[in-house]
Amino acid sequence: MALTLHSPLDMHLHLRDGEMLHNIAKESAHTFAGALVMPNLVPPVTDKAALLAYKARILEAIGDEHFRPNMTLFFKPDYDRAFLETLREEITAIKLYPAGITTNSEGGVSGFDVEELRPTLQAMSDLGIPLCIHGETNGFVMDREAEFVPIYEKLAKAFPKLKIIMEHITTKESVAALERFENLYATITLHHLIITLDDVAGGMLQPHLFCKPIAKRPEDREALLDVALRAHPKVMFGSDSAPHPKHAKEACGCAAGVFTAPIALQVLTALFERHNALEKLQDFVSGNAQKIYGITPIPKRVTLSKEPFTVPAEYNGVVPMYAGETLEYSIKEVTDG
Ligand code: DOR
Ligand code: ZN
Repeated sequence: MALTLHSPLDMHLHLRDGEMLHNIAKESAHTFAGALVMPNLVPPVTDKAALLAYKARILEAIGDEHFRPNMTLFFKPDYDRAFLETLREEITAIKLYPAGITTNSEGGVSGFDVEELRPTLQAMSDLGIPLCIHGETNGFVMDREAEFVPIYEKLAKAFPKLKIIMEHITTKESVAALERFENLYATITLHHLIITLDDVAGGMLQPHLFCKPIAKRPEDREALLDVALRAHPKVMFGSDSAPHPKHAKEACGCAAGVFTAPIALQVLTALFERHNALEKLQDFVSGNAQKIYGITPIPKRVTLSKEPFTVPAEYNGVVPMYAGETLEYSIKEVTDG
């Protein structure tokens, strides 16, 4: 049993910088044709020089892999149109973080008053730049995403031409919001299709499954699976693969993030097969993103075969999801074209 995916895309990826970038970038660049690269570096990517320099470091780190980093800028409320015009060809989206909500988001937005955000959002809408949002309030951790839905809706209504991508959705409330506004879309991670809060904290604490937004209830996971497995045209795969060194995860004050880049396609294939939905996987991992973002990826063919793959315990000091476990599918061949 083998399956070939064409130009898989990861529309939400943390590649980090420095040594970590060099250690992990190839894990995505080998099996994906491209990714939407998050800008939450220290300091965040907020100007053209920093963006171009970061892109150059990514290209250097991936070596001869055929992989396109689709770049994002870190949202600030007061970018002006002239500035964004100079960046239009260099960025695929702008990523908005509420201040302090997750890793390196301190420079994010501290209120969602439409008028305060208008300078940047109006320019983005006029220039056709999509807005990606980490949608969580600072309320009770299990309710943060559902509480953010009215903010998504306020923005979707105020800027009807702006494409808004609800990043890494984890709740049935976010799934329902997709149907209410034409300009709302979403990414879904691998881990949120598989785990619930029980897997993180129901038994012994599993720090390698701790992430933001936190995994939710079984009924939320069902709602995510429902739209992912039928490749609903408004959802696309975004791994939110977020590597942290092992010592930062297995620590008092565990960093948030699940590292899934090296196992994502193998696990997605097994998941879609188990649900008799293999024919929908191509759209979920590439076709939908191409349409939503209007992008044409680098041609790449990734063939997976039903042969066991034992996941390494670590990739250069980063522990992946399913470390040490054996998966049903492995990557058999990757070819260009
Ligand atoms: O778990 C997460 N880790 N969620 C995010 O939103 C950020 C990410 C990271 O950068 O580590
Ligand atoms: Zn993320």
